[in-house]
Amino acid sequence: MKKTLIIANWKMNLDTHEASTLLHRYHETIQIHRDIEIAVAPSTLSLQPLSVELDRRKFRLCAQDAYFKDEGPYTGEVSFAMLQGLVHYSLIGHSARRVYFGETLETVRDKVTAAVRNGITPVICIGETKQERDDGETKQVIHDQLTTALSNITSDDIEEIVIAYEPVWAISTFEGEVAKPDDMQKAFDYIRFQVKELYGARASEAVRVLYGGSVNEHDVRAYLALSGCNGVLVGAASLNYAKFSAIVDSAYRLHHQVE
Ligand code: 13P
Repeated sequence: MKKTLIIANWKMNLDTHEASTLLHRYHETIQIHRDIEIAVAPSTLSLQPLSVELDRRKFRLCAQDAYFKDEGPYTGEVSFAMLQGLVHYSLIGHSARRVYFGETLETVRDKVTAAVRNGITPVICIGETKQERDDGETKQVIHDQLTTALSNITSDDIEEIVIAYEPVWAISTFEGEVAKPDDMQKAFDYIRFQVKELYGARASEAVRVLYGGSVNEHDVRAYLALSGCNGVLVGAASLNYAKFSAIVDSAYRLHHQVE
């Protein structure tokens, strides 16, 4: 059975001191289980200091983004090459990158390629906006985002890739519209169908697919219970160690069929 992957995306919320404090709380409260893998995605600035403090038997580090060129006159950027050996994973193509920073399908493709070239496992974030959903374009968007992002990925590399389905309309909407797990099943099935079309049945079973979007300690179990859901990408709730710890606990209980 595949491990459940739970990623805490702290986004641009904590300075290094605050990130370090939260990591300490994680160490104190989160129970580690063999069948659950936890990755923490602080800001790029905090990756290095946290790497020294992090208990690698418990947590892995995840970058939130990096640049696709390995080196050169790209002022302000940090490359995947520079993150080699520091992080295990990197988010790529998060909707914040696509929406606020104009990342195109091709930018995401180049970043996925660069991550793999540098031995970092990409967590490719895909998902439709509210408008696209209302226009009935969800499948088309998933298709375009996925096929472009994977264009340079060989069948040798595909099984390591992680895909996070994060419908943009369901991100940070704790008070508003929240994705219903039943509705999500179609998207999950379609993602695996796409991987199967591109790489065959074995790859489509091997690839890990996560859900992200307003996940909290109450509904995480319903998302993880979806067929083919291998984990969750958690934003706001991961900033609260008690909530995040409860999310991990919930995943464990589901694995072991405890109510
Ligand atoms: P929220 O959990 O705050 O909705 O964020 C989801 C997300 O974007 C994780 O990458």
